[in-house]
Amino acid sequence: MHSNNVLGAVSSLLLSPMSSMAPMAAPLRPNFTAISAHNGSSVFECWQLDAPFSLSSERSVRGSATADLGSLANASFSIYPANYDIGTHTAPRKLWAIFLKGMGLFTLPDDDSASLYVSAGEYGIIFAADTADISDKGHGTHLLGMTEHVAILIPTEDNEEPAHEVLHSGPCDASEAGGLRELALSGSYSSAIETL
Ligand SMILES: *[C@@H]1O[C@H](CO)[C@@H](O)[C@H](O)[C@H]1NC(C)=O
Ligand SMILES: *[C@@H]1O[C@H](CO)[C@@H](O)[C@H](O)[C@H]1NC(C)=O
Ligand SMILES: *[C@@H]1O[C@H](CO)[C@@H](O)[C@H](O)[C@H]1NC(C)=O
Repeated sequence: MHSNNVLGAVSSLLLSPMSSMAPMAAPLRPNFTAISAHNGSSVFECWQLDAPFSLSSERSVRGSATADLGSLANASFSIYPANYDIGTHTAPRKLWAIFLKGMGLFTLPDDDSASLYVSAGEYGIIFAADTADISDKGHGTHLLGMTEHVAILIPTEDNEEPAHEVLHSGPCDASEAGGLRELALSGSYSSAIETL
């Protein structure tokens, strides 16, 4: 069961984990690096999803801060060889790519100055949006290193992008993921959980 009353009561604590006294706290929203496209060329962008984190009282996930990634079509689990250069390609569909093992280097054929390293783990999530209808060449993907790579690819339902705002061009930086740590470490979050 999901109690909106509980959520409402704790939302001011949750939504501003480092300054729970702030009267008009902005909701905490997840940011993800996306590979999108402008004028037919793929680009990196930092996207902030519209759907904020909320503190769940549902039994199975009680106390977790959860953000919705949107409606999804299906999922596939893929294993790639070590040091695997996939080359340049457009995104087959709008999809989430979640890297569980390994490191990827992403490049842009029309912008030699841009590159993006994605390491597996909690920050190993990107959104690939540069489908062939908006990007002529797409992006380069080179899976680096001596071990195999493991990823989960999740196309969205109806090829939709999750509702988002573009924070800036270029990949998200460490500060744009810092809210996760603040959420996990802040005392106000712990005390909010106790009230569930
Ligand atoms: C797209 O191309 C037009 C015309 O060349 C240019 O004015 C505009 O700035 C470009 N937009 C982006 C996002 O590169
Ligand atoms: C997964 O969903 C996408 C998007 O709807 C679709 O194109 C693809 O065929 C689906 N894959 C499977 C295995 O059903
Ligand atoms: C997303 O970015 C904004 C702006 O930099 C930041 O305030 C927020 O904490 C970030 N969200 C997370 C979950 O780190």
